[in-house]
Amino acid sequence: MRKNLPILSQCYSLDAETRLMSVTTPGSFITYANKDFIQVSGYHAEELMGEPHNIIRHPDMPPSAFADMWNTLKKGNIWTGIVKNRRKNGEFYWVKSSTTPLKKGDRLTGYMSVRIAATHEEIAQA
Ligand SMILES: Cc1cc2nc3c(=O)[nH]c(=O)nc-3n(C[C@H](O)[C@H](O)[C@H](O)COP(=O)(O)O)c2cc1C
Repeated sequence: MRKNLPILSQCYSLDAETRLMSVTTPGSFITYANKDFIQVSGYHAEELMGEPHNIIRHPDMPPSAFADMWNTLKKGNIWTGIVKNRRKNGEFYWVKSSTTPLKKGDRLTGYMSVRIAATHEEIAQA
């Protein structure tokens, strides 16, 4: 488990229109991030491209959440869950994330994830 530090207690709120999108290789290295993803992450695009996706991992996220995500994706299914991510400066933000395997025929070419702001109820439940 990658431990990204420092972490701050400051929550960064997302508005309802924000859509954070990223695409990775099958090994989960980032190959694309949209404008919202880059802006919210606090990184420059060049700092994200080619990096493993756990660059935005928040240490509060339990390993079991990602185990569930990878089990689901490896079966070829879409995974949806509530995720707390870390910004470069240590702030955090909550998203409802939907991640799907990308395929060309039978061949896995990567993964794509789209995230929207999580609601207060979803955050409280998580
Ligand atoms: C398309 C895609 C999107 C992902 N999005 C996130 C994310 O938003 N936050 C996150 O912490 N991990 C995300 N992951 C999972 C990471 O690759 C990694 O499994 C997770 O951060 C756990 O890291 P660890 O192995 O260092 O514990 C994503 C993976 C893929 C393939």
